Amino acid sequence: MSFKKIGVLTSGGDGPGMNAAIRSIVRCGLSRGVEAAGVIRGFQGLIDGDVISLGHRSVSNIINRGGTILKTARSEAFKTEDGQKAAAAAIKKFGIDGLIVIGGDGSYRGAQDLYEKYHIPVICLPGTIDNDLYGTDQTIGCQTAVNTALDAIDKIRDTAHSMERIFVIEVMGNRSGYIALEVAVGAGAEDVLIPERKFDYEVLCRNIVEGNQKGKISWMIVAAEGAAKAPEVAAKIHAMTGLETRFVVLGHIQRGGVPVGADRILATRLGAKAVDLLVEGVSGKAVGVLENEINVVDLPNACKRENKHVDEYLRLIKILR
Ligand code: F6P
Repeated sequence: MSFKKIGVLTSGGDGPGMNAAIRSIVRCGLSRGVEAAGVIRGFQGLIDGDVISLGHRSVSNIINRGGTILKTARSEAFKTEDGQKAAAAAIKKFGIDGLIVIGGDGSYRGAQDLYEKYHIPVICLPGTIDNDLYGTDQTIGCQTAVNTALDAIDKIRDTAHSMERIFVIEVMGNRSGYIALEVAVGAGAEDVLIPERKFDYEVLCRNIVEGNQKGKISWMIVAAEGAAKAPEVAAKIHAMTGLETRFVVLGHIQRGGVPVGADRILATRLGAKAVDLLVEGVSGKAVGVLENEINVVDLPNACKRENKHVDEYLRLIKILR
């Protein structure tokens, strides 16, 4: 069978750089004589039959845009057998010979279902700000999210220092403390709370009080959302130390904005590789980069990665506070 049409969708939480990946997929496909179909709203768009044709011009001027022109969703319907059957049928109906799924671990599992149960050729691209997928050093969107959070924290530092306050800053990361650790080191925060490690309020507050006694007038704690909620942490610190404490939840601003160069380049390289693999008849894989070389792994293995640098970062934060 000659490969004629590639489908592409973005799924789960969006991340800056997804558009650069879509552009790369469409144009690399065209360069190999393959048409591109864009599925709107991720797997839900397959179920709804919401599929559009993407040409060279459809992806003009998007390399520098955050979000995803294809829109994205977390589809409940796709988690059911009927939903998956409908999605697989739509892939056949639209003449899609292979599907590229850009998303995080949930999207990877959805793609794996299509591949294993319905024999749909799929390739996944790591599109999540969480940077928690195996087989890649970076996921598309993470570097932009880290920079966005750093930019915000630099501003918070000005007021924290001027008003001699403690600040608790909540960043994204439900099961992954990756963003929190990067941001804590990059912002020069005094402490970090991450889902990978338990924390103790007694120790946290003792450090703050000791710092305060030594003349440290402001204290910044970065909390990953999955480790602790900033309002609660701030209230507890105030109750335990009597020191004035404020909190900021950075929330979804971390998912938006102009993608930084690293995310655009990563997305472009991985999009091109995904097209090559599908056209060459390879599927059931996820692509990433390891030490700047493109890396291809089997899908079932790609859904989760432990951060190997947790202890190194925690040590640094402690030493440098
Ligand atoms: O998976 C990406 C992510 O941004 C997580 O860091 C965060 O916990 C989650 O999505 C938030 O999802 P939603 O946009 O549905 O609130």
